[in-house]
Amino acid sequence: MSIAVYPGSFDPITCGHLDIIRRSAALFDEVVVAVLKNSAKKPLFSAEERVRLIEKSVSDIPNCRVIHFDGLLVDCVKALNARVIIKGLRAISDFEYEFQMAQLNKKLNPEIETFFMVTNANYSYISSSIVKEIAHLGGDFSDLLPKEIYNDVKEKIKKGRL
Ligand code: PNS
Repeated sequence: MSIAVYPGSFDPITCGHLDIIRRSAALFDEVVVAVLKNSAKKPLFSAEERVRLIEKSVSDIPNCRVIHFDGLLVDCVKALNARVIIKGLRAISDFEYEFQMAQLNKKLNPEIETFFMVTNANYSYISSSIVKEIAHLGGDFSDLLPKEIYNDVKEKIKKGRL
């Protein structure tokens, strides 16, 4: 069984992330979306909330499940009996960091491969940070994230303002 792990902070999941998940699910028997629990970036949503938002967004993808993890990504991948990490590349600016991470992960566990998937051009300008900034500033972010989670994100931002 081929299992691919798609790791990230997903604070929150965007249309770009969802596109990568769908395309990966078409290539592998199972895609495990792995949410980093304790990110250095102080997340807006707790790990449990981020998992729930992703679960809502992928409910029509039967071979996708969502977990959260702490510690090294390669240890999480090994514990899942997987050998592939999926990363999305939006632009050349992502490459330098992702290249370093891929080499570091290869050094930590040579059995694990990183596969890069080029982001759909329609989503290449979207990031979780951009979505949060637009939402905080009262702009329309409805087509930047999965429609199933739009209200959850709107409510969270509203609560943060109270
Ligand atoms: O969505 P992000 O914030 O770009 O995701 C980054 C993530 C979670 C993929 C990365 O920070 C990670 O793999 N963290 C786990 C800790 C780890 O393994 N670090 C060393 C090798 S990258």
